[in-house]
Amino acid sequence: MTLRSVIVGTGMSVPDRVVTNRDLEARMDTSDEWIQQRSGIRERRHIAEGETPSGLAEVAARRALEAAGCGVEDLDGIVLATLSPEADFPGTSFFLHERLGADTIPCFDLRAQCSGFLYSLSVADGMIRSGQMRRLLVLGCEVHSTGLDMSTEGRDVAVLFGDGAGAVVVEGAEGGADDAGILAVRIHAEGRHARRLWIEAPGSGHYPVRVTPEILAEGRHWPHMEGRYVFKHAVTRMPEVLGETLDTAGIKADDVDLFLFHQANLRINEAVIQALGIPHVKCPSNIQRYGNCSAASIPMLLDEAQRGGHLEPGNIVAMTAFGSGFTWGSVVVRW
Ligand code: UT7
Repeated sequence: MTLRSVIVGTGMSVPDRVVTNRDLEARMDTSDEWIQQRSGIRERRHIAEGETPSGLAEVAARRALEAAGCGVEDLDGIVLATLSPEADFPGTSFFLHERLGADTIPCFDLRAQCSGFLYSLSVADGMIRSGQMRRLLVLGCEVHSTGLDMSTEGRDVAVLFGDGAGAVVVEGAEGGADDAGILAVRIHAEGRHARRLWIEAPGSGHYPVRVTPEILAEGRHWPHMEGRYVFKHAVTRMPEVLGETLDTAGIKADDVDLFLFHQANLRINEAVIQALGIPHVKCPSNIQRYGNCSAASIPMLLDEAQRGGHLEPGNIVAMTAFGSGFTWGSVVVRW
């Protein structure tokens, strides 16, 4: 018997406002056909005035807590992954902390972009297994819509991203090899590719101020992505790290019941699925409805799988992501 980290509740939240590809056609030179063909996306959600990242995170968190059968007073800590913080500092998690009324438990934002939720699970797993904490709330939360260039200039990125939040409650439990819990975690990064997918400004790398009228005029405050370059790395790294994590867990790919891949592009996931020879039925996707929600995509998929009745106790779930940094990782769980 060893101490392991068990996911005991899931939740998600998206804004009500649906933005279809046709809606985007009205704002920039793009087409429903191009977007669907290149990415698989049909629509995404954008917040309306008055909605905030911590508001989305709160709904997802309360759903996860309810599913776990515990209250905020039962938590020892909160880790929230995001690349779109509510304020540059302190981030998003502190506003969530306030909304939840979380007394004085620690919380922090974790920045590993689209791999952020898996990095956060890795941190939570370490906290639990080292005995520092018993129960944590782990979230991915993004509001991309307020940071996208909605002109034709920004179309390559703007059509891809959506807003959403996903949450899980992770709890320590003594168990053997056949009991529920995180079986293996592998995370990686390669900083030399950082500028291939990033937002340059505002940033403290700019002197003497973090953003200038020139930077704004040049559009360097919008996300910049070298799409094909990112695509090539994603289709290589995702199968690689998934294989590495399954090996660490001592699980064969055939024994995995559900593969949850980051939802950046349906074509990326098709390529990964084909390379690994995995049946499509084991690979749910929600990018068609929500676009790329970065750190929130995987916990949203997990919540949909759980509430949709696609997960049973004992199932093996393999979650894999790739994103800006570059970062990538995989977590294998027995449900
Ligand atoms: O979550 C983080 C990780 N992110 C990713 O993994 C994303 C990885 N990359 C991708 O998913 C794909 O590269 C994209 C979906 C971003 C782009 O697809 P692509 O097949 O690589 O297209 P492209 O960038 O090579 O662009 C092809 C053409 C270009 O026109 P020309 O130069 O061929 O005349 C673009 O200007 O499509 C044009 N284009 C668009 N047209 C209509 C770019 N964006 C759009 C658009 N609507 N939104």
